[in-house]
Amino acid sequence: MRGKSVLLIIGGGIAAYKALELVRRLAERGVKTRAILTKAGAEFVTPLSLSALTGEKIYSDLFSLTDEAEMGHIQLSRSADLVVVAPATADLMAKMANGLANDLASTALLATDKPVLMAPAMNVRMWQSASVTRNRDILAKDGVLFVGPNDGEMACGEFGPGRIAEPLEIVAAIESALAVEGPLAGIRALVTAGPTREPVDPVRFLANHSSGKQGYAIADALARAGADTTLISGPVSLAAPQGVRLQRVTTAREMLAACEAALPADVLVMAAAVADWRPDVAANSKIKKSTDRVVPLIKLVENPDILATLSAHAARPRLVIGFAAETDDVVSNAVAKRTRKGADWIIANDVSGDVMGGERNRVHLISEAGIEDWPDMTKNEVGTRLAARIAQKLKGAA
Ligand code: CTP
Repeated sequence: MRGKSVLLIIGGGIAAYKALELVRRLAERGVKTRAILTKAGAEFVTPLSLSALTGEKIYSDLFSLTDEAEMGHIQLSRSADLVVVAPATADLMAKMANGLANDLASTALLATDKPVLMAPAMNVRMWQSASVTRNRDILAKDGVLFVGPNDGEMACGEFGPGRIAEPLEIVAAIESALAVEGPLAGIRALVTAGPTREPVDPVRFLANHSSGKQGYAIADALARAGADTTLISGPVSLAAPQGVRLQRVTTAREMLAACEAALPADVLVMAAAVADWRPDVAANSKIKKSTDRVVPLIKLVENPDILATLSAHAARPRLVIGFAAETDDVVSNAVAKRTRKGADWIIANDVSGDVMGGERNRVHLISEAGIEDWPDMTKNEVGTRLAARIAQKLKGAA
């Protein structure tokens, strides 16, 4: 998001005070905000506090000679990468849905050539009224994006949908809206993450230490770069990254079926630590200790290799990327794995330390072109760098 800019239109309502925190959160992320404060909005927040936070002049008047001399309203409406309306009142929604332009905010909304994101906030009965519902449908059909409103208690004392989305939710929606035109726009990505669990009986399973963090970071980075991203995840305790379609599975066989159902895709990233074996049979009831202390023998059978299966699939993604979790001879094992599994790239990492479950990773990217050693970095940074490399490969993006 760094370097992007947002035109924030602040409607009149008690939720307007949250716009101040939104501006702060955007500034923390390196996003520049210019604000249009409606007349009603100015009843709730002052131009002075907004200007102190944005570091910019605040615009409010359509017929102001000084404003027009500085930046005409048409230019203002196009100066940002995204127009955000927060709070979006019933009035602003009605104006935009019907093409009214009788003040600076509505004129900017009509004149802009940029995507518009609305964060509605109003009384629950207003939100559910026939006219607001109609206007919302029109706006959605026109391509306007929405975040919220949320359910909850409102300033007016009533309960239900109408509360403005939290500032961080709005930031997340801005992040994905800005990524629409990212380097991976139009690309379908399929990512797997986490361990798989192979049941022994109803209370026991075989699994591994995978936390899912690397796969989730990759899915997040791909979605932020604009890819239409599906994440198929084994059992982990992570929240779905914003804008990612998350499907949870348990076993390797479920993961394979979910991946096949998610095809076609342009790129596959198999970051999951798939269990190589599963118990031949999963007992239906808990296996009990025997009185003569004989321990049960669990016969294992091999799980399908998802990476190898999808590499040889009729709908093989154009770019197939596997991981190699190694404890010895990391690079040479990973080079052999690339050929054996039919992958285009392998991301090799040494998992003998605290990589599994940790925040950092040091990887080698193995491709037909050779071996790249990436420095030690956070898993998020690995995700971002990998997304950039994928964009370069698939779209020739820099
Ligand atoms: N993988 C898979 N299906 C499996 C096992 C692994 O798709 N049944 C994928 C992993 O997601 C990873 C790659 O294959 O992208 C390599 O996984 P890894 O555990 O390093 O290799 P193994 O297949 O277990 O091979 P080895 O036993 O030689 O380490």
